Amino acid sequence: MGTVHVLDHPLIQHKLAILRDKRTGVKEFREIVGEIAALMCYEATRNLPTEEVEVETPVAVAKVRVLAGKKLAIVPILRAGLGMVDTIIDLIPSAKVGHIGLFRDPETHEPVEYYCKMPPDIAERQVFVVDPMLATGGSAAAAIALLKKKYGCKNITLMDILAAPEGVETVQKDHPDVDIFLAALDERLNEHAYIVPGLGDAGDRIFGTK
Ligand code: PRP
Ligand code: URA
Repeated sequence: MGTVHVLDHPLIQHKLAILRDKRTGVKEFREIVGEIAALMCYEATRNLPTEEVEVETPVAVAKVRVLAGKKLAIVPILRAGLGMVDTIIDLIPSAKVGHIGLFRDPETHEPVEYYCKMPPDIAERQVFVVDPMLATGGSAAAAIALLKKKYGCKNITLMDILAAPEGVETVQKDHPDVDIFLAALDERLNEHAYIVPGLGDAGDRIFGTK
């Protein structure tokens, strides 16, 4: 079974409190989604392999450690996942970005795929699927299934800012090999499959579409 990591770092929790507040405007919401993504990336990449190399400082030769291989990919689930990409890429500039477009059917809450474009060597990369919200888990489970079946990805990590227990359960059942990183695990879903207490519709709040 994949491990669920809830990142209760004070900076993440403070920023999440601002995201949850319904008075937070689009600009601040978007900026803070990016900031939380960067902080989560710091934790989610903690076990990446490194290798020793030598560099010449102005004073002497130093043995230093650098990322080994640098074969990473970030895969945002459109649209809201886009809000997490830029700050992660700033930290890991060698990572490639693949996009999966999914929206939840408003009646059935089932994910509907409308776009997909991956780097050609994605199967060899460690993939971080990013999306602020894990509600029923349908979108994340479908995105991960696509990455495995169509693209042959074997090493996948999921990063969501907020999750409901139902979403975690779905991903763990369908993809027991995938570790999940969260900023918080909320109480439940409501009758519209929204996370409670949650933060509302992440895509609308990032892009100002409501
Ligand atoms: C939201 C969110 C996730 C999905 C989570 O996207 O960003 O992708 O819902 O719900 P689930 O776990 O029940 O599948 P949405 O479908 O609203 O699309 P958007 O990002 O374009 O706003
Ligand atoms: N998608 C969102 O943006 N918010 C939720 O609470 C559930 C799904």
